[in-house]
Amino acid sequence: MRVLLIGSGGREHALAQILARSPLLSALFIAPGNPGTALFGTNIAIDAHNVSALVAFAQRQHIDLVIPGPEAPLVAGIADACAAVGLLCAGPTQAAARLEGSKSFAKDICKTAGIPTASGQHFTDVDSALHFIRHKEAPTPQTPLVIKADGLAAGKGVVITPTRTEAESVIRDMMTAGTLGQAGRSLVIEDYLEGEEVSLFAFCAGETALLIGAAQDHKRLNDGDTGPNTGGMGAVSPPKGFDRAAQEAALDITVRPMLREMVRRGTPFCGVIFAGLMLTQNGPFLIEYNVRFGDPEAEALLPRLTSDLLPALYALAQNKLDTIPLTFSHQASVCVVMAAQGYPASPQKGSLIHGLETAASLPDVYIFQAGTARNTAGELVTAGGRVLAVCALGDNVTEAQKRAYTAVKKIHWHGAHWRTDIGIRAL
Ligand code: AMP
Ligand code: GLY
Repeated sequence: MRVLLIGSGGREHALAQILARSPLLSALFIAPGNPGTALFGTNIAIDAHNVSALVAFAQRQHIDLVIPGPEAPLVAGIADACAAVGLLCAGPTQAAARLEGSKSFAKDICKTAGIPTASGQHFTDVDSALHFIRHKEAPTPQTPLVIKADGLAAGKGVVITPTRTEAESVIRDMMTAGTLGQAGRSLVIEDYLEGEEVSLFAFCAGETALLIGAAQDHKRLNDGDTGPNTGGMGAVSPPKGFDRAAQEAALDITVRPMLREMVRRGTPFCGVIFAGLMLTQNGPFLIEYNVRFGDPEAEALLPRLTSDLLPALYALAQNKLDTIPLTFSHQASVCVVMAAQGYPASPQKGSLIHGLETAASLPDVYIFQAGTARNTAGELVTAGGRVLAVCALGDNVTEAQKRAYTAVKKIHWHGAHWRTDIGIRAL
């Protein structure tokens, strides 16, 4: 099978490495890829947003399966563009990708399908939004308001605010000043959910959902969940008290009813679903859907796959997932993100990375590259904020954590930093 994988982060390095195990794989191209993906296939200099160039390449190269990593090409309609020329794509159509691309759409699906989620309202004009919060009970630090840009905003679209005054200025910034562009011209205002946040993953096609697993992301920059939000400083799998039986039960509550509703609407979802959940006292509540693997969650989850990933992705692209065996090891996994100096504000590029091979040769350790590049001398250097995802498996979280940090300590570059407490909430 000839495969085109789209993306350039740690998630795509993990996908490339796991796909490369498949005896069915004959050629792997990655657009645009990174030095890590280049170890498993051929990097192609086409941007992940450039749908027409990606599809033209896939046609020229007789690609059997296109696998999009990030959401951008999906929301831009790459699955539809592939279908139009007879190519298979392991990702949802543009209509189904709205589950991630529009918060109000996802809210509406939850409402119709009876999926527990924070109660909220959708606003398309600033006066109604302001009127709503002025007549709603005032928020407090314990019961803040959650304001969400309707569209994709690269992780900047959600503001949690404890005061009415701040809520009003956030609404004006997004809706009137347009600080988030088109994404924030309409928004959802919802109640705050309290609990433990987890990420749940499944392969989906039509009404079938096959559990992949669950992980917990660590979004804040510093230990103890402090400091600014980032793209994710690490992940642990499984989250505490959320075993596979609980994950299956959560799929029944938060994912399978959504799949049935999408089929009923004539826009079935075929792809990887990433349900962001809040485990509350009243059970799992949906925070948001993403229509792809998470990053860094994929790096923590994929090394545990003991069956072949390629036929599973091929089957979901054909809406035939129910015949595919999917098996995972019962190991725990911890993934520590090593970041560049200055991340997240202004990551320093070009620092020489040392010790990666030594660290990667440790047992049960997987190192996935994200923000890396080769300099003119061919040496590996930093090229982005999140540089490496250093992952390890173990019989339990304590063992996986120990292995991951042993590996981290063997890697060096100027200004490298990481959290020292990844996985602590799962212990
Ligand atoms: P997003 O940028 O869409 O990934 O959302 C950012 C984060 O905001 C989520 O990961 C949650 O931690 C938080 N969040 C979003 N909605 C709620 C909510 N209703 N209650 C509590 N936290 C929320
Ligand atoms: N880890 C969060 C995301 O991939 O969106």
